[in-house]
Amino acid sequence: MDGEFKPFTFRSPRIVFKRNAWKDLPRICGEFGKQGMLVTGTTVMAKSGVYPALMGDLKAQGMVVREIVREGREPTVREVDSIASAARAECVDWILGIGGGSALDLAKAAAGLARNEGSAGVYQEGKDLAKEGIPFVAVPTTAGTGSEITNNAVLINEQRRVKLSIRGDKMLARAAVLDPVLTRSMNPQVTSHTGLDALTQAIEAYVSKAANPLSDLLAEKAIEAIWGSLYGAFTNGNDLNAREQMLYGSLLSALAFSNAKLGAVHGFAHPIGALHDIPHGLVCGALLPHVMRFNLAGNIHEVTRKYGWIGRKMIGKGARESLSDADLASTAINSIIDLLESMRLPTRLAGLGLKPADIPAIVEQTKGSSLQNNPRETSKDSLEKLLRDSL
Ligand SMILES: [Fe+2]
Repeated sequence: MDGEFKPFTFRSPRIVFKRNAWKDLPRICGEFGKQGMLVTGTTVMAKSGVYPALMGDLKAQGMVVREIVREGREPTVREVDSIASAARAECVDWILGIGGGSALDLAKAAAGLARNEGSAGVYQEGKDLAKEGIPFVAVPTTAGTGSEITNNAVLINEQRRVKLSIRGDKMLARAAVLDPVLTRSMNPQVTSHTGLDALTQAIEAYVSKAANPLSDLLAEKAIEAIWGSLYGAFTNGNDLNAREQMLYGSLLSALAFSNAKLGAVHGFAHPIGALHDIPHGLVCGALLPHVMRFNLAGNIHEVTRKYGWIGRKMIGKGARESLSDADLASTAINSIIDLLESMRLPTRLAGLGLKPADIPAIVEQTKGSSLQNNPRETSKDSLEKLLRDSL
């Protein structure tokens, strides 16, 4: 690395990563008390054979667990408020979230809010959480969102028709329990969407302006693990080695981006998701090659070098020494398009049903830290052009 060593601080919950880690949950939750609340999705209930066994184990340890089972839609402010007030009223000692990003964000936000005053909507305005939340234990069943690691929860504010985060280290999980066995419940579609989210997060963190030496290391390993296993997990969901590598890659990606922040793909993805109700990972995948092309055209040495590194990893032994970083960077972009096509996913926004007339509203709502940390500067005009080029 050129110049002075970049200082950093690093944030992470306690992490348990192993096959059948779900068996440790009664012990881990038991550290916080006997009275618990479980927030999960209907898919996990139906498809994960371990669910009845887990509930049996928790009860056998003398725990009283209130179960909240919901459809997999994204959480709303109203839902968070209602779960937080139930947790407060019942003096719950811990909240266990098991599921994809939506279930985990809901459980995390409710746990964070339960010992604080006011509605989640107020905290979406940027108000800080005054007190630590109820201990939150996060168990992801997808390999992509990274919600088990991050200190924020994305919530739909129905009144304002926007999607905004509430954020704060007081919401960090007390334990993130990662069990590849549980991720086998994902169908190929969810596998591809969440996997692309994880890949995008790793690539955006890698070239982010806020990247640091440790986040770079994690992002590189994340990209390698995800690239090496996503297609395998997509084509054979029972391949536990591929599932394990995907979950590991997703974890590394989340550790990288929760410290190094994200870029323009995520800047766009939230408004597109809120305005058009399209799965987050699908939007990320369709935008990623176009945002990379935009960043590469900025001729920023570090970006070209890092995209070049990605390209070399993607083509592996086929990469000739003589290839320049710029050539390898283009290879990375083309390889991502090939992967999207091989999973029959759109490589352009038009494939998601977006039209030129949608662009102004998306650009209007594209702001925040993801945009600030994108390696190439953006403006209203360049964002509009980038979206037009992505259609
Ligand atoms: Fe994401």
